[in-house]
Amino acid sequence: MSDPIAAVVDAVASTAPDVREGLVGRRTYEAGANPSGERQLEADVYADELLEARLLDIDAVTGYASEEREPVVRADGEGQYFVATDPLDGSSNLRSNNAMGTLFGVYDGTLPASGDDLLASGFVLYGPITTMVVARDGVVTESVIDGDGSRRVVTENLTLPDEPTVYGFGGRVPQWTDAFADYVSEVESELKLRYGGAMIADVNQVLTYGGIFGYPGLRERPEGKLRLLFEGHPIAHIVESAGGASSNGERSLLACTPEELHERTPLFVGHETYVDRLEAALSR
Ligand code: AHG
Ligand code: MN
Ligand code: MN
Ligand code: MN
Repeated sequence: MSDPIAAVVDAVASTAPDVREGLVGRRTYEAGANPSGERQLEADVYADELLEARLLDIDAVTGYASEEREPVVRADGEGQYFVATDPLDGSSNLRSNNAMGTLFGVYDGTLPASGDDLLASGFVLYGPITTMVVARDGVVTESVIDGDGSRRVVTENLTLPDEPTVYGFGGRVPQWTDAFADYVSEVESELKLRYGGAMIADVNQVLTYGGIFGYPGLRERPEGKLRLLFEGHPIAHIVESAGGASSNGERSLLACTPEELHERTPLFVGHETYVDRLEAALSR
């Protein structure tokens, strides 16, 4: 196979129309709980099974890991790449018909791994238009995904704009630590609030308009909500490749290796100045 990573990107792109189509009849059915103990929707399972089939069909892919299932699924054969996915990010937005997406990261070697082991990462955003953002070799490209699953590149080298404009932070305000709440008071006097409940859609606003997105550690949940492998690594890889920064509150998310597959982490991505100020605020 000439370019296995391109084959992974094309496989994810080719699922986009089918995922989008499959959402219609699966808006409110619950399938149970996922390994993080969170509500699992039928749409989560549908997207997960579609991606597993398409990705394990690639000879070079030997392992498939997902937010929606416990162990890594291993394929036979001589493959060397592992793909970790969040099949449907922001799936609680389905009932309210708001944006959501699919996240993936390609690792050369077994999971869990450090974010520095990522060879490529990307997301599909099911917005008014279905788009796909891919980071590979330090370059971020944005494509439109057509109804047949083909990709048309619309932005060759996507980089964060010079000026930050928007911010969005998850978690209930009373659960924010004092240090984080003080930091947000500064940020909210400088930027506009944009928070929609789906990380991919909110981060795409940061990629487009500049700023910062985060889901902090909380008083009763210091590890936060988002998963390091399935959400932190790919989104950090994309934003850092676009000239931004990421953090778990102390260091780049790419420098972090989960001890267990579904480990959660505080997560921040966006303009380096805001990430630096955040780390300083949390270190006081
Ligand atoms: P997922 O749907 O994959 O479980 O992810 C949902 C995550 C993330 O997309 C979003 O930023 C965050 O949950 C929103 O959490 P709140 O609903 O607590 O704001
Ligand atoms: Mn979920
Ligand atoms: Mn998610
Ligand atoms: Mn998800």
